Amino acid sequence: MGKVITVAQQKGGAGKTTLAVTLAGAFVARGLSVALLDSDPQGTLGRWFMARVAARGAPDMEFSTASAWGVSYEIRKLRERFDIVILDTPPKADADLRPALREADLVLVPVTGSHVDLWATDGVLDLVARESGRALIVLNRMSGGTRLAEEVAEAAGALARVAETRLGARVAYAQTLGQGATVLDTRGAATTEARALAGEVLAALH
Ligand SMILES: Nc1ncnc2c1ncn2[C@@H]1O[C@H](COP(=O)(O)OP(=O)(O)O)[C@@H](O)[C@H]1O
Ligand SMILES: [Mg+2]
Repeated sequence: MGKVITVAQQKGGAGKTTLAVTLAGAFVARGLSVALLDSDPQGTLGRWFMARVAARGAPDMEFSTASAWGVSYEIRKLRERFDIVILDTPPKADADLRPALREADLVLVPVTGSHVDLWATDGVLDLVARESGRALIVLNRMSGGTRLAEEVAEAAGALARVAETRLGARVAYAQTLGQGATVLDTRGAATTEARALAGEVLAALH
């Protein structure tokens, strides 16, 4: 049985889709089979996937979409066939999100270095707790060494477990996303931190 990771955050633009594709790329690079599932009607993940197929030909991961109510069924099917299922969700924290949280072995909540993002995580964390699930905050778009970043990191730690690996604010994330690629297809600081985060997430899943 594969493991299921749900990426959720009420605030848009915090990096849900970026986190989903980055981890997918890192898991595939480790030799794991990965299925991506998108329940966000905005369809960013699907656009990314189509760009990836156009650029590479044969896909190196699976992609499908599901409506909020179809998520459970789709996840149960996919986890029988893949090592890892990663679910990307819309920027909401309402009842629609519950099936996605219930099926998850781990819920990743991206938070950028701003208090606004942090305020927006309460809703998701409450829902995760109600489904007796586990949440891991991933600090994203961090510009190292600023006081604000450290403040946000500390405040995040009071709310939930926080991944040790942080993702920096790096052009590579935005650039690769538009090309149907991931930072695993490049070489740089982003590649290194993405690998480290994938290792940490795998450890948290076991
Ligand atoms: N660590 C990062 N460094 C630079 N740009 C980032 C980073 N994470 C996300 N972005 C950019 O921020 C925007 C929003 O990210 P996205 O993953 O689409 O957020 P969400 O899915 O939560 O709405 C995108 O343009 C993306 O490329
Ligand atoms: Mg998104």
